[in-house]
Amino acid sequence: MSLFRLLLVGTLVPTLNLVNQARSKSINTFAGPYIAIIHKLDSCPSDGTLQLNTRVSHFNPSRPYDLPIFTGNATLKEDLRDNYWSRADLAVRSNNQWKENAFIFNFPKQGCTAIREQVPDFFRVLAKLSGASTDKGTPCVVPAGVYLLKNEMVNLTFPNFPVIPYARYRFKVTASHSRNFDTPLLCLAVDCEAIPKP
Ligand SMILES: *[C@@H]1O[C@H](CO)[C@@H](O)[C@H](O)[C@H]1NC(C)=O
Ligand SMILES: *[C@@H]1O[C@H](CO)[C@@H](O)[C@H](O)[C@H]1NC(C)=O
Repeated sequence: MSLFRLLLVGTLVPTLNLVNQARSKSINTFAGPYIAIIHKLDSCPSDGTLQLNTRVSHFNPSRPYDLPIFTGNATLKEDLRDNYWSRADLAVRSNNQWKENAFIFNFPKQGCTAIREQVPDFFRVLAKLSGASTDKGTPCVVPAGVYLLKNEMVNLTFPNFPVIPYARYRFKVTASHSRNFDTPLLCLAVDCEAIPKP
């Protein structure tokens, strides 16, 4: 949590500057409360130890507060605990191009807790399916298993990021047991967007 806050302070300001530069000609309100939209969720090369194979329903602009629906499975070949080095590479779309590696977030010795704290409603679904505890006072463990998501509505609210720049983003999230990321155990590519709350 405190690590995330540090990263936020360290990265949001340059992010804001970047987006501000990109858009300074056209808009005044470039960041604020947002709705997170997932356009595409793909896996990328990993050894498959941790997989999230899900489809996500399309965003409907005329019903912006409808929650996205996830269908597919989460396949964990080992218990998901806090013994991972995780990294998010972030690309930002601006002027019709992807600005690759715009930011890199590193999360040493996290994993389960990062999901429980950063994307709590997704963790709620994982916990419901796996029996993991949502109580932040207990160690975070999602037991190994194959969990089937059947039309699970997920509220994509990120309590630690109430305000972010409005933009199209692409995240590559990888997790590994060591800091060199030779063979990731997980690789997830997320094409997403933050739009202003109507
Ligand atoms: C999980 O999803 C993947 C990709 O759709 C599929 O190939 C695999 O068979 C699924 N596994 C189970 C146990 O349903
Ligand atoms: C999603 O969660 C946020 C924060 O808890 C809440 O304010 C919002 O009403 C929720 N949205 C829906 C559609 O349930």
